[in-house]
Amino acid sequence: MDVIRTRKSTRNYKDKEVEEEKINLILEAARLAPSWANKQCWNYVVVSDKEKIQKLAAGIINSWMKNTTLVIVACADPKKSGSKNGMDYYLVDVAISMEHLVLAATNLGLGTCWIGGFDETKVKKILNIPEKIKVVAMTPIGYPSDEGIRNKLARKVIRADTRKALEDMVHFNK
Ligand SMILES: Cc1cc2nc3c(=O)[nH]c(=O)nc-3n(C[C@H](O)[C@H](O)[C@H](O)COP(=O)(O)O)c2cc1C
Repeated sequence: MDVIRTRKSTRNYKDKEVEEEKINLILEAARLAPSWANKQCWNYVVVSDKEKIQKLAAGIINSWMKNTTLVIVACADPKKSGSKNGMDYYLVDVAISMEHLVLAATNLGLGTCWIGGFDETKVKKILNIPEKIKVVAMTPIGYPSDEGIRNKLARKVIRADTRKALEDMVHFNK
């Protein structure tokens, strides 16, 4: 619960590289996630190339990401997962694995921020990702810096610190 309560989307990072040992631990957490028929449809691209990070951050929504030293991009081969009730489970599989990764990073004192606001075609081009692979999410990983305007904005506009009450989300027996 400490790790879960500590995790917050971090949008300001120190210019300090993440140690390889920590990166390996974080990726190991992602590797151990459960998945549809244990098919493990995920693939991760670890991006430390500054130029590529700059390109990934191009655009209005997530331009704050350009100053980070590490970005991890979560991808999937949808054919390796399943489909039921009109739901493509590769999204579920990758989301579980990615959240393992995020919580492991938090546990190591590192900041992350789920990023869904990207142009998949551009990301695929920048990272040379094959056509059949889907880009599901990405996150910067790094040492959190002092709070900046983006975090204040997140608090005010997205109301990031709020959550629904339990009674608004839990239903018993019906
Ligand atoms: C699927 C997904 C996509 C998201 N995409 C973005 C994004 O593109 N940019 C961003 O700054 N935050 C993004 N977020 C972060 C959310 O805004 C954030 O998790 C939410 O406001 C709750 O705040 P917290 O993570 O600090 O608890 C995304 C989160 C999720 C789960």
